[in-house]
Parts: sequence; C-alpha cells; structure tokens
Amino acid sequence: NSMLSWQRTAFHFQPEENWMNDPNGPLFYKGWYHFFYQYNPNAAVWGDIVWGHAVSRDLIHWVHLPLAMVADQWYDSNGVWTGSATILPDGSIVMLYTGSTDKAVQVQNLAYPEDLNDPLLLKWVKFPGNPVLVPPPGILPKDFRDPTTAWKTPEGKWRITIGSKINKTGISLVYDTTDFKTYEKLDSLLHGVPNTGMWECVDFYPVSKTARKGLDTSVNGPDVKHIVKASMDDTRFDHYAVGTYFESNGTWIPDDPSIDVGMSSSLRYDYGKFYASKTFYDQNKGRRILWSWIGESDSEAADVQKGWSSVQGIPRTVALDTKTGKNLVQSPVEEIKSLRLSSKKFDLELSPGSVIPVDVGTATQLDIEAEFEIKKESLDKFFGDASVVAEAEEFSCEKNGAGSTVRNALGPFGFSVLATESLSEQTPVYFYIAKGKDSKLKTFFCTDTSRSSVANDVIKPIYGSVVPVLKGEKLTMRILVDHSIVEAFGQGGRTCITSRVYPTTAIYGAAKLFVFNNALDATVTASFKVWQMNSAFIHPYSEEAVRA
Ligand code: FRU
Repeated sequence: NSMLSWQRTAFHFQPEENWMNDPNGPLFYKGWYHFFYQYNPNAAVWGDIVWGHAVSRDLIHWVHLPLAMVADQWYDSNGVWTGSATILPDGSIVMLYTGSTDKAVQVQNLAYPEDLNDPLLLKWVKFPGNPVLVPPPGILPKDFRDPTTAWKTPEGKWRITIGSKINKTGISLVYDTTDFKTYEKLDSLLHGVPNTGMWECVDFYPVSKTARKGLDTSVNGPDVKHIVKASMDDTRFDHYAVGTYFESNGTWIPDDPSIDVGMSSSLRYDYGKFYASKTFYDQNKGRRILWSWIGESDSEAADVQKGWSSVQGIPRTVALDTKTGKNLVQSPVEEIKSLRLSSKKFDLELSPGSVIPVDVGTATQLDIEAEFEIKKESLDKFFGDASVVAEAEEFSCEKNGAGSTVRNALGPFGFSVLATESLSEQTPVYFYIAKGKDSKLKTFFCTDTSRSSVANDVIKPIYGSVVPVLKGEKLTMRILVDHSIVEAFGQGGRTCITSRVYPTTAIYGAAKLFVFNNALDATVTASFKVWQMNSAFIHPYSEEAVRA
C-alpha cells in the first residue's frame, strides 16, 4: 500500500517490520552505541515480546543485529520485558530486566554479555539463578517491573529502583546489592505519589546545577539535583520532577511538592506522543541521552496493514536548565546535524493574519531552526490596551478543541508542516501568548494535529503546554519533520512535543511548509533556517555492515 508506506520514517530508528515499544538497556561500549528494544518478531501489534538489538557509531545510522534475548526460560516465557544496563568500574556490563513468567508474574532477571571482547555484544547469557527478585509482600504479581540502571551507595554497594503501585499510589521500590544476584530491600521508597497509578519505566539520575553536561548515574554532591521520572500507565505520559536525593535511606523529595511526579500540574518530558523513555550516561561524550518509544496514533488495523508499528524518537541530550533550575532542556543529539543537506535562510516580517508558503521544495524530511519576535510597537500596544482583558480561565493548547484557530492579539504564530498547498491538511506548531488570571503574560508552545489528516481512523490531538520564557529571550523553536513524525522543541527544549501524523495528500512532493502569524494585532518577525534532511542508513546485519 503506497499510501501507508509513505509513513515509514527516513532518519528515525525503526525495525524493518513488526511491533516495537520501549527502549531497553542503552549503552556505549567499545566504540558502539547499543540500542535494545521491546520487539514482537511475529506481528505489528504488542505481544511475544523479546529484545531487539541494533548498534550505531553515531546514534543516527544503525545496523540491526540478531535478537539479544528471547523468551526461552520459565521466568521470562511470557515476555522479555523492559530493563536497563549498568557498566561496572571494571568495564563489564550487567543487564537487569523484567521477565513475565510462565504464570505471568513479574520478576527481575540478570543477564550479561557472553564475550566482553565482542564490541557488538551479540550473545547474552541469562544468569542460571534467575529470577533475582520476585514481587515483595504487599506488591501484586503484575505490578513489579522495569529495573533501572544501578548507582553506587555511600558504602560502595549498588542500588536500583523498580516501579510499582499500592492501590492507586504509584511508587518506586529500592534495593541494594553487591553482586546483582542477591538483593536487600530498603524500608523506605525512593518516592511515591497518590492517585498516579502504576509507575512504569522509572528513571532516576543526577543532573548538574551549574553546567550543561551529563553526569554518570552514581555522581552526587552539592552541585547536583536528581530527576525522578515515571511513565504513567493510566495517562500514557512520561512525568518528571526535579528534587533532592538522600543517599542514607534511598529517598528523594521534589523541590516543589505541588508539581510532584505524575500530578497533572507536573512536568512532562514531552507533551505529545512519547512514552516509556529511558536515559543513559554516554561516557563517550560526557552527556546524558534520552531515548523514547513513539507509538502510532493510527488504528491497529492500519498498523497490521502496513506491517509495522512505532518508531523511536531521535535520541535527545538532556540536562537541567541552568537558567531556571526548575526544568530540563532537551535537544536532538548533535549528530543529527550530519544529515543536514542544503539549507535556506529566511528573514520575514509577518503582518497579522499572514500565512506564507516557505519555498524549500519537498518538505517531508526537514530540520527547522527558528526565532520569532513580536514587534515592540505591538507589545507596547498590548500592554497599554485596556480592551485586552485577562482570560477568565487560563488558556491551554487543547482548550475548546479549537487549537491553532484560536486567535488573540498576540498569536498564534509558527509553522504549518506537512501541509497541502490549500492547507486542507496541515500540522501547525506554534507559540501562543495569553494573559493569565494574574494578568501576566504566559507563553504556550503547541502542536495542533486536528487537521493533520483527512483520514478518520487516526487520533488527532492538540498537544502542548506553557513554556518558560526569560527576560530578553526571543521565542525559539526547532522542528524535525520525518514523514509521519514531527518533533518540536520549544525555547531551547524547555517544552517538547512529539506528534505522529498521517496526511493522505500532504505526502511526497505535495508536502509543503508554511510560516504563519495568526495574531489579530501583532506583527512578528521570523528569522529561520530550513535544512533538507538526508535519510539515515539503517541496515540489516552483515559482517560488512559492522566493519569499522
Ligand atoms: C511499558 C511497558 C513496561 C513493560 C514493557 C512490556 O510500555 O508496559 O512496563 O516492561 O512495556 O513490553
């Protein structure tokens, strides 16, 4: 089906066929980035889960390797589920993963590479004493999964955390070990938040308060904050909070209890389609990298028809926003720039109500970097204008379901990607500035997929959230477009939105790019650069493909 084959991405990681979900055990070893993932080798829907495996020199071009682990033991016969890698000081690697047993009980298992001299880590050995952990008293058999990377305790032991729930309270259990075979459960939890439900794929790591760099998972000290992230099984969003870790008892508390992990007020890695993510410390470049499963927003029938489901987001560098100290910033790994081909630069003044085609040729594989500024006269007028009253109810991107068609004096403005000439299909990515109840201006960053496709068997949400804008900053956005995925990074990656879109006409050469300013009053200057993006090599396994 040529219409559906258009949806396959050109520079996002995806298997050659069938179903994929969570990223697993990412790590850098002997010159190769390793990526493992939840994979169904038999169908384009979830089930029969094993570990897929691929390697890359640069996180962009990949070689698929044979399956790393299959469901061949009683303790994982219902599925080789999500897990994480830990690189030990002697350079050896341990992998902890959840097995769904023959009786569908969730247990934790240990595996390690058969041959550490093999940079490809092709063969994995499961520890004969598995499982190493079973659900503790008080935890239901299906609420105990997804062990993290281990970090060091002050006494030199290793510590891990595992997501769970008790009634409706999402929690993360903590265990100490010296050998990864036997474990001691701590009395206290890393953290828990009422009414958040099961915490899947918990992640826990340090971030630097002072420098925009990554920290190895065991690093701690006065200049360090700790992030707790959990994937909320109920809402399907990845929530995080910034806080303080107490190594003595293995607990963590958020800096602001009113925006705790999983609360509706709390922060998300991404406000779009983005789930079950996992970070790792890249010792090769001293950065922390975030991987995430980007599922489909079309129907299961369509997935079966096209023979595949899901992609991975472009790996993102993640760090604390040292300017606000309150949120993370994310950006596509710098290696993505190696795919940039020809570029065009634009400097435009957009009068209120303008929608302008951007001549970049085919617009299916793009990288866009843009800066917007509201003309000073317009802003002055806005502040002076008594008729622009504060909104009774705070604005939100999805409010009233009207998305980018909601206009006020100052917005929305941004780009429409994957659009037809007539805009019958389009996906606007935009800023919207509104006065809050407190009369202060707030900036929102949104993606409206409601008109992305005329197809009616796809989910077309309006995504987004508020984005912090500091004094003197211009409004900036970065957008990656790759066929059926749009990844948008607002204000240096303070607010990110990933969408899956399925246009029927805005495909191949018919896909266009527009820049717009739909403000009623304000004139906006837009300065931006658009690159055509090359396709990545994502090759099947062969001796030749992995030759240095
Ligand atoms: C998250 C998840 C994990 C589990 C895995 C199974 O998407 O449900 O909690 O380990 O997927 O595939």
